[in-house]
Amino acid sequence: MSVASKSVSMTINGTAVGPFDVPESLMMIDFLHEYAGLTGSRLGCGQGICHACVAILDHEDGTSEEIRTCITGAIFFQGKKLRTVEGHAQRNQAGELTALSPIQQKFLEFYSFQCGYCTPGFVNAATVLLEKLKRQPIAGDQVEAVVTEALNDHICRCTGYVRYHQAVKDLIMTTPGLLKETAHGK
Ligand code: FES
Ligand code: FES
Repeated sequence: MSVASKSVSMTINGTAVGPFDVPESLMMIDFLHEYAGLTGSRLGCGQGICHACVAILDHEDGTSEEIRTCITGAIFFQGKKLRTVEGHAQRNQAGELTALSPIQQKFLEFYSFQCGYCTPGFVNAATVLLEKLKRQPIAGDQVEAVVTEALNDHICRCTGYVRYHQAVKDLIMTTPGLLKETAHGK
């Protein structure tokens, strides 16, 4: 018996990946780990519930969305552009880390995580939210609800969520351009 396979290639974190012949049933989380060499995305439940495994899918119109890689086949990403947690920090030409992304930095400042297993998913969720707010700023009194909605599906078994939420709220309140009215939404 042979396993049906397909060729896939895509752009991950700005780098062309593939083509690889992969089993049609291969889930994207396994493609990231086993083919692309990107092991930062976390397999939690494997059933689409915990959102630890999300990557960011970038659309041609400039919008972005989270996508669960444990229940989405690698072949779905044929020709698409995505980002994983490895793509957020800045690096120099030698590949050395030079700066975390604003949300990564904020999660550190707020001690948002403990074991960190869920953190790649939270980083991606918050990044998608910030990008959305850059396109569509909100009123200051909407911040609480918008952050809750954006992070609500992400399960963390360590922290009680409070510091993740505080970090994202703080970043929204202190980043110019994300809130309506004045730069800081007052
Ligand atoms: S591992 Fe994908 S949603 Fe839990
Ligand atoms: S920090 Fe451990 S699961 Fe979230």
